[in-house]
Amino acid sequence: MIEHLYIHIPFCPNICPYCAFYKESAGRERVEAFLDALLRETEQWAHRLRPRTIFFGGGTPSSLSIPQFEKLLAGLHSSLDLGKLEEWTIEMNPATVSSEKAQLLRKAGINRVSMGVQSWDNKILKALGRTHDAERAVESYGILREAGFENLSIDLIFGVPGQSLQSWRSSLEKSIRLAPEHLSAYGLTYEEDTDFFQKLGRGEMTPDEGLEADQFELTRELLGHSGYRQYELSNYALEGRDSIHNSAYWAGNDYLGLGPSAFSTVGSKRWRNIRDTGIYSETTFHGKTAVDFEEEATESLKSSERAAFGMRTLRGLSIQDAMPWELGLREALGHGLVEISSGRWVLTQRGRLLADNVAEIFV
Ligand SMILES: C[S@@+](CC[C@H](N)C(=O)[O-])C[C@H]1O[C@@H](n2cnc3c(N)ncnc32)[C@H](O)[C@@H]1O
Ligand code: SF4
Repeated sequence: MIEHLYIHIPFCPNICPYCAFYKESAGRERVEAFLDALLRETEQWAHRLRPRTIFFGGGTPSSLSIPQFEKLLAGLHSSLDLGKLEEWTIEMNPATVSSEKAQLLRKAGINRVSMGVQSWDNKILKALGRTHDAERAVESYGILREAGFENLSIDLIFGVPGQSLQSWRSSLEKSIRLAPEHLSAYGLTYEEDTDFFQKLGRGEMTPDEGLEADQFELTRELLGHSGYRQYELSNYALEGRDSIHNSAYWAGNDYLGLGPSAFSTVGSKRWRNIRDTGIYSETTFHGKTAVDFEEEATESLKSSERAAFGMRTLRGLSIQDAMPWELGLREALGHGLVEISSGRWVLTQRGRLLADNVAEIFV
């Protein structure tokens, strides 16, 4: 049985200039056709699913309206066996949170919200092209707590041009005061096919790597002192609040992804649904496959991925598990990127900043 289910909801009320996730801003009819197809795809897989975790990602899942959520949640409840469900997460954009929506989601069994706050500094929110301001984000956070959500996560972004160390410190401090159970702090990446990427190419945006490194270290320090464990490079949680879904994914467990652009890895197969909502909806609704890419997930591919993800986690990699990559790791040791601590390979402070370079060892 597959224990981890990802559902991609590809709609956003506004497209952010840095974001490369598959999404579109769409009208009502398109959403309806998508929901019909998604429920059809769920039914096709239901006999192989007994989810311990469900993750509604996007896009902005919270951009669905109340009637659309009612239809989606009723459909999922009627086709899935949810008897083993431990964690059901939804990604929400603060601009789309309402009390009625929050209550509906909580009642339907969703027990974790990851909210894309990004920054508590209105100047930075504007630079990121966000439609909400800090005041709206506090209000949305309060609405979620009032609706009974006891497991909240906040997404923040650092390394934004114009974002001083002080602005980042204030965003961290403000987040800590709100006391979410989990925090994700991402360094801004310039993804291909985004406005920011083009601006970078034209020299209109200039990353400051030194400042970004300081912001990263400040994050570890402030969150660490406030009881948040850095269990993965970008993820921090209070005791017992690591994301079960993401941890399972990083550990290399099987997961099923439904919706356009969603990846799945089940047994020795990996595939991706087409990155086109219209085609996805049309083909899936008619019982045909929306898969546009598949490959053999060989044991060697899976163990490389497990090792690469393992190195990004606090625990690192046991010397035993790391044997196939020992040569590369020894070289990285020489460059001060990794070290051996309590019998495990772990990243050094420098390695944490250059984690993508370390990951290349496992490719
Ligand atoms: C799919 S979004 C989900 C949340 C929701 N759509 C929103 O924006 O509020 C997941 C998270 O990825 C992060 N993210 C997206 N693009 C990024 C980029 N280019 N660099 C760093 N973080 C990024 C943001 O923190 C965002 O909250
Ligand atoms: S960051 Fe979130 S709201 Fe912005 S475009 Fe990406 S998925 Fe949509």
